[in-house]
Amino acid sequence: MAILVTGGAGYIGSHTVLALLQRGDDVVVLDNLCNASREAINRVEKLAGKKATFVEGDIRDRACLRDLFASNSISAVIHFAALKAVGESTRMPLEYYENNVAGTVVLLEEMRDAGVWNFIFSSSATVYGADAPVPYVETTPIGGTTSPYGTSKLMTEFVMRDFAKAEPKFKAIALRYFNPVGAHESGEIGEDPAGIPNNLLPYIAQVAIGRLEKLGVFGGDYDTPDGTCLRDYIHVVDLAEGHLKALDYLSKVEGYTAFNLGGGKGVSVLEMIKAFEKASGKAIPFEIKPRRDGDLPAFWADASLANTTLDWRVTRGIDEMMRDTWNWQSKNPDGFR
Ligand code: NAD
Ligand code: UFG
Repeated sequence: MAILVTGGAGYIGSHTVLALLQRGDDVVVLDNLCNASREAINRVEKLAGKKATFVEGDIRDRACLRDLFASNSISAVIHFAALKAVGESTRMPLEYYENNVAGTVVLLEEMRDAGVWNFIFSSSATVYGADAPVPYVETTPIGGTTSPYGTSKLMTEFVMRDFAKAEPKFKAIALRYFNPVGAHESGEIGEDPAGIPNNLLPYIAQVAIGRLEKLGVFGGDYDTPDGTCLRDYIHVVDLAEGHLKALDYLSKVEGYTAFNLGGGKGVSVLEMIKAFEKASGKAIPFEIKPRRDGDLPAFWADASLANTTLDWRVTRGIDEMMRDTWNWQSKNPDGFR
């Protein structure tokens, strides 16, 4: 039996495929490469000393899914495939709903028809919306999302919830990620954003190698200790390990359930800059800019449910996140290209 990983050539997917191969699982990767490179999987296979089956295809392509389920024996699906740029989603909402929500519905229909009932979904802290108290805890009702991207995650969780109510065989876990950063410690795989990065750490890393001139810090007047936003950054390898724990737990799940995957601590933008400078020995010039639309001042996870139920917790701190980001970026200044 193999694990199907959709979006497995992407940032978080590739780290998870590596962890699965390293523990001996068979893996089928389905990715349309709209935001990833085949090279990521080549490197994963080299690191693991084991091959994955790679299918270049789209989760919305029924014929492709049917063929994949018919020719591979799949025990569970880890579903990363999605479009993920918050700003872009406000300009292209239909594309985001079509890819992320409708695409997931097609995937679930084809899983049902193939008799595959185990499902892990990449959700996000954004499903808690703008008004949830911090730290975010799973018992807080989700909703009040502020972008089509966030709403696509919320809607997909509702799809999972309702399908699980109707179909007792379906077992589903939504993993709500906080802010994934870092790279595999080998420096062979990491985050490779197309164009100018939207996210903080890839931006900082590209300033450090000289591809970008200086960082704009979005807002210095928030009601936080240093005036910049607080986020719960989580090392991507810790996050990948969370998926393995969730897979192991699926057999005990009744229907649909959700877990926060975060470290439980808020770190400011200025603290991130300082930590990166320490790890890389590079100065990061920055300038305080106006607030970015839609940014929340501060949020972090209450991850105690994942700690106790999944027996999962973060083991890598900010220093490791920075060390591994810099190692990846300096070894691969042009990413996988
Ligand atoms: P990524 O863009 O690196 O990975 C997504 C992968 O899915 C890419 O390889 C892309 O080519 C593929 N893909 C997209 N649409 C597809 C489709 N229709 N069919 C097949 N493949 C498709 O992003 P990531 O950072 O690795 O994120 C993985 C998942 O985690 C996404 O669902 C994302 O929304 C979610 N998430 C990410 C973050 C984050 O900050 N990175 C935070 C919370 C949740
Ligand atoms: N920031 C800057 N300058 C930049 C980029 C970011 O100051 O050039 C700041 C932001 O204002 C924010 C912090 O850095 O305060 C983190 O921003 P990111 O864009 O890295 O991350 P977000 O918290 O906005 O969102 C990320 C993902 C979302 C996901 C969310 C919660 O992009 O997909 O984490 O998981 F939903």
